[in-house]
Amino acid sequence: MFGFQYYTPTKVVFGRGAEARTAELIREFGGSKVLIHYGGGSVIRSGLLKRVTDLLEENGISYLTLGGAVPNPRLKLVYEGIELCKREGVDFLLAVGGGSAIDSAKAIGYGVTNEGDVWDFYDYRRKAKACLPLGVIVTIAATGSEMSDSSVITREEGLVKRGYSSDYGRPKFAIMDPELTMTLPDYQTACGCTDILMHTLERYFTNGGNMEMTDALAEGLLRTVIKNALILKADPMNYDARAEVMWAGSLSHNGLTGCGNDGGDWMTHKLEHELGGLFDVAHGAGLAALWGSWARYVYQNCLPRFRRFAVNVMDVPVEGTDEEIALKGIRALEDFFRRMNMPTNLRELGITATEEDLRTMAHKCAVGVGGAKGSARVLNEEDMLAIYRASR
Ligand code: NZQ
Ligand code: ZN
Repeated sequence: MFGFQYYTPTKVVFGRGAEARTAELIREFGGSKVLIHYGGGSVIRSGLLKRVTDLLEENGISYLTLGGAVPNPRLKLVYEGIELCKREGVDFLLAVGGGSAIDSAKAIGYGVTNEGDVWDFYDYRRKAKACLPLGVIVTIAATGSEMSDSSVITREEGLVKRGYSSDYGRPKFAIMDPELTMTLPDYQTACGCTDILMHTLERYFTNGGNMEMTDALAEGLLRTVIKNALILKADPMNYDARAEVMWAGSLSHNGLTGCGNDGGDWMTHKLEHELGGLFDVAHGAGLAALWGSWARYVYQNCLPRFRRFAVNVMDVPVEGTDEEIALKGIRALEDFFRRMNMPTNLRELGITATEEDLRTMAHKCAVGVGGAKGSARVLNEEDMLAIYRASR
């Protein structure tokens, strides 16, 4: 077991109608002029944005709105948001939406409070020294950005998708009303469940230290998400299943399931970010399309963990060699993805990638991780290319 730092300063307000407390929470964290940042319009169609702006007006909190954060949010809108906040003297950000709106808001927050080009942080050139205070109303259970320290932005030039992590970016509060996720298309619900699983799996498949307590939390989380994702597939309006998945989404990426290990593997995410940058796919679907190829490439280097996953999470019977059990576990998770209508390769994801595309992604990925990365198995550019090839 390794030592760790666990820091989750986000105040969580969870349950039906929780968004009614938005104004009170903004005040509690010192906001007086708010930029409400959202995505492509689902919050307008659902009426949520109107409810929130009405609340702010009733409570005398002035606000501006900036929509348009797309999935795989873009740098151009971040620059626009920064200019707007500076011009109007905004002192608080409220993201209403999914990971894309939240991440875009975090980037705006860094840009307003730090000198120079905000992309420097995503390009690993320097570190942010502050961020505007940020509150969140979550509308999709997926990224866990509502409690995480990360923000992932795509720069249009060169289609470079990069993440930046800093405790300054952790939201002050997160409002989580499971009912708000009931308007999601089934595909997005499934993408979200995949991402949630993957945030714990990335931390679980490691060769660097483990902790019994953390493993128990991780395995419980994985089993809960798989079970409730299947319930939601049959019954999307099931409140309790929505709630289970939503809370799992936050716990999966707030650091809890990584305590005591080496920080995790993260290569499925790194490989997916290149896919998202180049082909603009939904993050969860991209992860599902790559995971099996990654897992088969690395499982022998992390066999005890893959065996344990198969038995404790996927209910694979303890019969045969460790390798056989591990492979059955990998297959079982892929079967789950198929049941959720998630892709298990690039073709099913709807992508026809040329050899040159694969090489480009492998190269960008290797550059992005500084050469090589991974804990289940350390991967270099050649390994990355082999995994992309296997995933076609
Ligand atoms: O844009 P709108 O109109 O709101 O529609 C969104 C979008 O089309 C829609 N949606 C969201 N809530 C809805 C809804 N539609 C109907 N009803 C609702 N209640 O769903 C679509 C996806 O939304 P998005 O915010 O893009 O999804 P997600 O939360 O999965 O975020 C994905 C982004 O987050 C990054 C991903 O790479 C990707 O760019 N990630 C961020 C992380 C973090 N900050 O910690 C970690 C992750 O690993 C991930 O990389
Ligand atoms: Zn993710």
